[in-house]
This record gives sequence, C-alpha cells and structure tokens, in this order.
Amino acid sequence: MHYCSDDTFDVNLEAIEPDFRFYYDCLMGPNSRSLLNAMKKMGELGKIRIIANGHGPLLYHHLDVLRECYQGWSQRQAKAETIVALFYVSGYGHSERLAQAIAQGVQKTEVGVEMIDLTSAEIQEIQELAGRAAGIIIGMPPSANAAAHAAISSLLAVVKSKQVIGLFECYGGDDEPIDPLRRKFLELGIKEAFPAIRIKETPTKATHQLCEEAGTDLGQLLVRERNIKQIKSIDANLEKALGRISNGLYIITSKKGDVQGAMLASWVAQASIQPLGFTVAVAKDRAIDSLMQVGDKFVLNVLEEGNYQELKKQFLKRLQPGADRFAGVKTQTAKNGSPILTDALAYMECEVVSSIECSDHWLVYCTVQDGRVSKPDGITAVRHRKVGNYY
Ligand SMILES: Cc1cc2nc3c(=O)[nH]c(=O)nc-3n(C[C@H](O)[C@H](O)[C@H](O)COP(=O)(O)O)c2cc1C
Repeated sequence: MHYCSDDTFDVNLEAIEPDFRFYYDCLMGPNSRSLLNAMKKMGELGKIRIIANGHGPLLYHHLDVLRECYQGWSQRQAKAETIVALFYVSGYGHSERLAQAIAQGVQKTEVGVEMIDLTSAEIQEIQELAGRAAGIIIGMPPSANAAAHAAISSLLAVVKSKQVIGLFECYGGDDEPIDPLRRKFLELGIKEAFPAIRIKETPTKATHQLCEEAGTDLGQLLVRERNIKQIKSIDANLEKALGRISNGLYIITSKKGDVQGAMLASWVAQASIQPLGFTVAVAKDRAIDSLMQVGDKFVLNVLEEGNYQELKKQFLKRLQPGADRFAGVKTQTAKNGSPILTDALAYMECEVVSSIECSDHWLVYCTVQDGRVSKPDGITAVRHRKVGNYY
C-alpha cells in the first residue's frame, strides 16, 4: 500500500485498511487470477510470519486478516460474471498507468477486469480472454512491436458483435494510429463504449481521471440491463415504503489539483455534532468517488426550494469523459480550493474522515470546517420520491 507512518509494522489495522484496499482496487484487482495463483504458491511455503512489501508497513500483526482480504476480494473478482479484457503493452510510454486508470473506472461498476500484456501473453490466452469478455479495451501498441500486432490480429478473429470496445493511445511517441483498428471493430458490428482516447500531451491527473471515467462508462453500459432487471424485481410495497424516506437536494463540488468533479446528491444526513459532521452515500461507480477518499476536501452546496432546476439539470447532464462540468456555471473558490456554486442556498467546506462499504454505495462520513447561508430565510429543496429504489 502507499501508506507511510512511523510504524515499521502493521500495528494499526484501522489506519492502514483504506490504503490497503485502495491499492488492491487500483493495481491488484485487475490481476485477480494471477494473484490467486501467487497466493496458492505462497500457501505451499508453509507458515508465513512476515510479508515485507517494497513499500508500506511490514505485514506481521494482522497477516491472516490481510491475506484473507486479498483472497476474498480476488475470488469475488475472478468470479464476476461480467468481465472486461484490457490489452496493453507494459513498460511502454504511459500505457500501464493509463490502463490501470481505465481498469479502476470499470471496476467501480462491479464489472471484473483482466489485464493482459500484448507482448508477453500467448495468442491462445489472448483469444480465450477476448472470447469470454463482454468488453474489450486496447491500448495502442508501438508501430514496431510485431508481437503486439499479431496479438491484435488474433483478437479480431474471435470478437463478437455483442461485445463493446474501447481504444486508447499510450503516449509512447510512436503509437500505432487508432483509426484503422477502430474501423475494423466497427465493421464487425462492435459498439464503441467511449470515444477513443487520443492523448496529445504528457498524461496528467486530468488524463487519468478521463481514462477512469471512460472505464466507468464502459462498465455502466455493460451492467445497465442487469441493474434494470434487479430494480424491477424489488417488491412493490417495500419500494413504495422506502420511497417515503426523504432528504434534501445538494451538489457536491470538488477540485483536487487539476481534476474537478461534481455530483447531485440527496442521500445526505447529519451524523455528528461534535465535530459537526454528516454522511453522504456515494454509489461505487460515481466519477466523484476518486475525489472523496479519506482526507479529501470538497464543498457541499445546498439547493434552494423553488430555485434549483437549472443547477439540477446542469449537474445531471451526461457529458463525454473529461468534459468541463462547470462550463457556464457561476462559481467562487472556497478556502479548501473547491468550487462554491454562487446560486446555491448555502455551502459547507468539508473533509472526508472515513467511509464504510455499504453494498453498492460508500457511506462517506465528513466533517464541516466552514460554511455560509446566502439567504437567511431560504429553505432547502426537498426530494420527495414515489419509490425507494432510486434517488
Ligand atoms: C435527485 C437525485 C439525487 C441523487 N442523489 C445521489 C446520491 O445521494 N448519491 C449518489 O451516488 N448518486 C446520486 N444521484 C445520482 C447522481 O447525481 C448522478 O447520476 C451522477 O451525478 C452522474 O455521475 P456519474 O457520471 O459519476 O455517473 C442522484 C440523482 C438524482 C436525480
């Protein structure tokens, strides 16, 4: 994990858990099958007393719990019914990092990802994975890499029209152009899940965010039908009863470096007085999730009754990955750097303190450092719902 403290060992499980999980999700999850194999081999070594990672604390006190986590997460991941195959060339340009960002985005939708290096994998292995995957993502290899090109040709022989595709450049300087390959997939009747990612400048955090959002778009496309079926199967009385839980309407806005994000939210509830704090439930596949990790700062904007339709519309609009969510919106900058919506009734400057995994959402607990109300007698917009299986 990318965790640094004065402790040499994993003494404080609670402190390291979020980073342990985050690292797994970003880097290990997409390789769950290899991980399960590696753990099997580790098992053959007999009793393991310490795992000394290259970075992060040495795993000693909680070795069993931490190993069980890796085992459980990987088994779940490997069993995911819907899989996306991600082909890239490791060690070339920015390929690996971009591939990981896309994989992370896909996984937010609970779709599994398996990553394969086009240069070192066997053709049969590539074809087997491409044949069973619901979606295929390819990072363009360098023009001169004959092995990678042979691998891509072998892929074209096994893909099916009901699969979806996503293509990205790796910014390696001599990437094979995207268009000829893209055309071949489209001619085979394969749908493009996100516009091909063409990278013209050295990738930044914003590029990685764009890649993550593109991955989430692809995952959402694959799970949409499954989710609709699940929602329909919920008991009608139960869903109507749950629909009587009402909340206000808010917009979360955040800026971290050159990456910004926003989300309309209604599952917000005050949770503590000392310090002042509240929770917000954030669906696991939300783009804003990466800006709401422990320690992140953001602004909670409260929408006003009778004066929120414009903002609501603006923040629900479907945008292409990487597009500016704040275009045409009046904002000011909060002390913590996030945008305040000038037309909101009130705002609060907040910090994420912890989050609990609640099935398909993260319940994020935040404390409030500062805030203002723009109209003393304004009232909060309230969301009244008919059913409880939507916001
Ligand atoms: C009235 C309303 C309230 C919402 N509340 C929440 C919420 O509390 N938590 C959440 O994760 N999504 C909520 N959503 C969904 C997101 O606002 C919306 O789908 C999201 O901004 C799209 O972002 P994405 O690109 O990350 O999918 C709500 C949507 C609506 C219409």
